[in-house]
Formats: sequence, C-alpha cells, structure tokens
Amino acid sequence: MSKNFILSKENIESLNEQFRDADPIHLLDSLCRPHKNRIVFSSSMGAEDQVITDMIVRLDLPVRIFTLDTGRLFPETYELISKTCSHYNIKIDILFPDFHSIEKMVSEKGINLFYENRDNRILCCHLRKVEPFKRALAGFEVCITGIRKDQTLERFNKSLIEWDEKHELIKVNLLLKWTEKKVWEYIHKYNVPYNKLHDMGFPSIGCQPCTRAVTNGDDPRSGRWWWEDQGQKECGLHLKDE
Ligand code: ADX
Ligand code: SF4
Repeated sequence: MSKNFILSKENIESLNEQFRDADPIHLLDSLCRPHKNRIVFSSSMGAEDQVITDMIVRLDLPVRIFTLDTGRLFPETYELISKTCSHYNIKIDILFPDFHSIEKMVSEKGINLFYENRDNRILCCHLRKVEPFKRALAGFEVCITGIRKDQTLERFNKSLIEWDEKHELIKVNLLLKWTEKKVWEYIHKYNVPYNKLHDMGFPSIGCQPCTRAVTNGDDPRSGRWWWEDQGQKECGLHLKDE
C-alpha cells in the first residue's frame, strides 16, 4: 500500500510537485483513500470518465460517482449508464435539473433556445448542468474530473490538483496529462464499457442537440456547439467565472 497524503488547500502546490509524473491510479490510491466518503467523481460517461470509473472500482475506493442528466442526452448515453452500473455492479447517482427553472426557461425562450445565441446556450448549460453540479458537490471536499490538457486552451492551463474557489473544494483532474490515445489503450486493455457513439465519429459527447460527429483529423471538440465561433467551448463546469 502506498503512503497516504492529505489533500488540503494549503499543500496543493507541493502535492502537484510530488505527483507530477505519477501514474493516475497511484495518485487515486494515495490521495483518495484517506478521504473516505468525502470524494465525489463527476462522470459525463465519456471515454476518460469511463477509465476513471474503472480505476475507482479496481481500487475499491469509497467515492460517490454521479452524472448529470440534462434531459437532452443521447439514447446511447442512457444505455451506457445502465450498462456501466451492471458491468461493475455499482451505483451511479443521477442528478436532474430543477424542473421549475427548466419549465420557465423553455416557456420563455423555446425548447431549442441554445441555437439562437450564446447567452441562451450559456443559460441552458447553467440550468441543466452547472446548477445540479453545484448541488452534487455540496458537502464533499474533493471532486475528480476527467478533463485533459489537450482538449482546450483553458484545460491546457489547468493543474493536476487545483483549488476550485467557486465550489470551495479541491479538484483532481486525474487524466489531465493523458492523450486520447492513452485513454483508448486503457479502455481496450481492460475492456471498459464505452459509448457506442465513439465508434461513429463522436470523440466528445455532450447533449444530443449540441453534439455532432466530426470527420477524421478534425479537432475532437469541433462537434460540440459547432454553430458557435471557435472561442471558448465550455459548459461552465470547469470555468472560474460562470
Ligand atoms: S463539457 O464541459 O465540454 O461538457 P466534457 O464533456 O469535456 O465537458 O467533460 C469534462 C468533464 O466534465 C468530465 O470528465 C466530467 O468530470 C465533467 N462533466 C461533463 N459533463 C458531465 C455530466 N453530464 N455529468 C457529470 N460530469 C460531467
Ligand atoms: Fe443545453 Fe446544449 Fe448545454 Fe445541454 S449542451 S445543457 S442542451 S445548451
């Protein structure tokens, strides 16, 4: 068993240094085991997140796994939620948005408001994802995410372990330095269940109306909110200011 380290706002810098080149599974084991029942893993059910779920199960870590059901997910994603629970014999908590706010938004702005302008898109992401995300994190000290450096410029500048001021907890971006290739090597090696859409040209999967397939060689995130300019394509879960 590896030596245990305490995660706290004060020692983030030194932990980043110590774990700079660590294998994510070693990082998980060392950092998460001493924080029993205070860790939450936010899974979008994407390829990276499936790898993390596999690691959590492999180590038998007491981590709450949750996913946000925006109400606009692909049928294939629901299928994967169900398959993952039975494959690993685990429970994944499913969080829903507040129906009052969704009803109000849809009645005022329409069911597909996100195509109209960026403010509408941000509002929809906020109500369907960011708000439930906040609720899911309440009471926890550490949140694991599956973001990777090479996905966006914003993510490129992230650290492995970081203090999230907005949610007042520590985020562990476990696969931050992994490449897409490495993610898929792990999936194939351990026979990890994954979303069928990944085999149909969808490297990055979000909500159905806001995700489309990309052609080989395109930026893997170019199928997300494709009608917006190529600026910041984020839903707000990992931004400092939304
Ligand atoms: S997004 O901001 O563009 O939608 P992306 O799909 O890359 O995010 O996922 C990055 C990380 O955000 C995931 O590894 C996960 O930690 C979190 N995340 C994104 N969508 C969800 C979701 N629906 N439920 C839970 N976590 C999510
Ligand atoms: Fe709404 Fe699209 Fe954001 Fe999903 S990705 S919450 S449908 S704007």
